[in-house]
Parts: sequence; structure tokens; C-alpha cells
Amino acid sequence: MTMQLVLGIETSCDETAAAVVRSDGTILSNKVLSQFDEHLPYGGVVPEIAARAHLDHLDHLVEAAMDEAGVGFGDLDAVAATGGPGLIGGVMVGVMAAKSIALAADKPFLAVNHLEAHALTVRLTERAGDGIAFPYLLLLVSGGHCQLLVVEGVGAYRRLGTTIDDALGEAFDKTAKLLGLGYPGGPALERAARAGAPGRVELPRPMKGREGCDFSFSGLKTAVRQALEHLGGEADAQQTADIALEFHAAAADVLTDRCRHAIAAFRERRPAGDSMVVAGGVAANGYLRHALSAMADQEGIRLVVPPPSLCTDNAAMVAWAGLERLRLGLTDELDFKPRPRWPLDPDAPKRGFAGVKA
Ligand code: KG4
Ligand code: ZN
Repeated sequence: MTMQLVLGIETSCDETAAAVVRSDGTILSNKVLSQFDEHLPYGGVVPEIAARAHLDHLDHLVEAAMDEAGVGFGDLDAVAATGGPGLIGGVMVGVMAAKSIALAADKPFLAVNHLEAHALTVRLTERAGDGIAFPYLLLLVSGGHCQLLVVEGVGAYRRLGTTIDDALGEAFDKTAKLLGLGYPGGPALERAARAGAPGRVELPRPMKGREGCDFSFSGLKTAVRQALEHLGGEADAQQTADIALEFHAAAADVLTDRCRHAIAAFRERRPAGDSMVVAGGVAANGYLRHALSAMADQEGIRLVVPPPSLCTDNAAMVAWAGLERLRLGLTDELDFKPRPRWPLDPDAPKRGFAGVKA
């Protein structure tokens, strides 16, 4: 089979990224520029600032990715960009750039669903090893999403559960902000937890033990606020670390409980499926990776998690999802409109309670 080459572009949130990936799974280049400094003074992502920063940096990043890969636009088989879901100003910047390159170089354009890019990353990272075939169970945990899905194939997803309020990444970010740990919150909270002692604070385990596979995380953040009030409004370094550790313990308890239900539902639906995948920015968290791995061992299911740098937003995953779609002839027209919302399973209800029993 002839090798294919795709340029991927990612601009849906606060990372500007460009990458060139080959169909044999070789990442020829993978450039990521995080806008931490731009958003730091505001304690979170400001959409207008993000869109402007993408506009400022994307051309240069695409050039650097192409240079490092040692290829020209004429060598590409297609150009892929995240077409949604995400902050619409940023998505527009990436989509416009990809369309322009595709038009100028006379190559197909691919609009990639950002969530699908996370979902398929393991098929890139596992290519060198045993590989991973459809169907598999997916826990998708990012800044905007917390879902359990059955991945049936490219473009084919069945949602088993979702959060009824905050996403887990959002809960990490809000909790870190409450504790004065700054932005981005996930890695900051993980670092703080390392010095924590277990059992000194108690946080709730929302939805644990409930039927189904839905999540709820807004109560966790509220409980952290109450714990802080209990301490007189401010926590010292040790208290902060203790709260951070208990937050991780609560998140791990809830995730493993919900995943056990999802594994049962997955096995009932797809008895031949043998793998569970974790993807999205929160999957970079060492504590949660460890807890999920122990749970998977107990359940007798193979757990596959991409390396941390490919869990958080990047363009290699967009190029790879593009390659998967290109292989199936699923290219897009140049009149594709960026989508602020783009669910993987359009048939699932907007909020949780999909009625899936496990
Ligand atoms: O997938 P991602 O990079 O962007 C979205 O698609 O949302 O995920 C970003 C989220 C943020 O909420 C961030 O705080 C969280 O992932 N995150 C982490 C870690 N690294 C990133 N959460 C916990 N631990 C981490 N090490
Ligand atoms: Zn993401």
C-alpha cells in the first residue's frame, strides 16, 4: 500500500498546533504552542485572545512543522484541521488556513472532529505494538467533555454516559483556581497533590454507586470551596496539598466506579471487544492513569492510554484522524462550516441519563 502524508492543524482551544503524520504511524513533526502566558492574567482561556493568538502563530507553526518533516505542500495527500467542537474564533482560524493550503496545493481538505481526534489517537500510538481494533470502550476526559463511549469505527460512536454538569478537566481547573494554583489547573493540581497526606480532608464522590455511566463534578468544586471556608478562607501549602490529593482520590473513585459500569455495558453490547482507552487532556494525569490501570487489571480488560504529550491537545492526533478518514474517502468540501458543537453520538440526549443500564 502506498504511504500517505497529512498535515494536521489544531486551534480549537488554547493550543496552536501543526503536525505532519504518515499513514504508517510515523509522526514526522509535531509542533505545539501553548498560550499559557496570554491567558495567565485572566485565570482561564479568553476566547478572543485565543483566536488572535492562533492568527498570530499558526502560519509560522505550519512552516516549522513542514520544515521539520522535510516536505513541501505538494508532497501532502491531504490537509486536515479541527472543524469543531471548540471556541469558534479559533476553529475558524485553523479551518481557513487548512482550506487555503488545500486549495493552493490542490489537495483534499479534511474537517476533523476534535473529540474523534482524541478518540483515535491510540490507533496511532499503538501501531508499532499490538495495534488496537474497533470496537473499543473509550473514557474521554478533557476540558469540555467527560464521556464514556463505545467506539464502533471511524465516525461511529455510541455514548454510554456523560457529565450532567462540569467536565472533569473543568473541575480540575476550577479547583486549582480556588486553591490559588493558577492556570492551567490540571497539571498544577497534580503537582500540588504530590506533597499531600491522605485522609486529612474529605470530599464527596458524586454519582458513585449510582446506576448507569453518567458523571457529575460540580459538587466536588463546591465541596472544595466549603473546605476552604472551614479553614478560614485560605489554605497553607500543606493544606492545599492535602485538598489536592483528596480531589484526585475522589476523581479516581468516581471514574473507576463509572468505568466499571461502562465495561459491563460494553461487554454486553460487544462481547468480542477487549480494550478500554482513556483519552483527552485529563488522561495525562499520573494519579488517574494509575488508578484506572489498577481497575482495568481487576476487571480483566486491556487498558490503553496515549503518552501524556498526545493526551493534551496536539495536531498529530488531528493529522491521524485525517488519515483515517482519508483512507475511507471521507474528505470534506471547501464550504465546510466550523462547528462550535459537534457531538460524537448525535443520537444521544444532550445531557446525561441516556437510560443505559449497567
Ligand atoms: O484535551 P485538552 O488538552 O483540551 C480540551 O479538548 O479540552 O484538555 C484540557 C484539560 C484541561 O482542563 C486541563 O486542566 C486538563 O485537561 N489537564 C489535566 C492534566 N493536563 C491537562 N488534568 C489533570 N492532570 C493533568 N496532568
Ligand atoms: Zn482536546
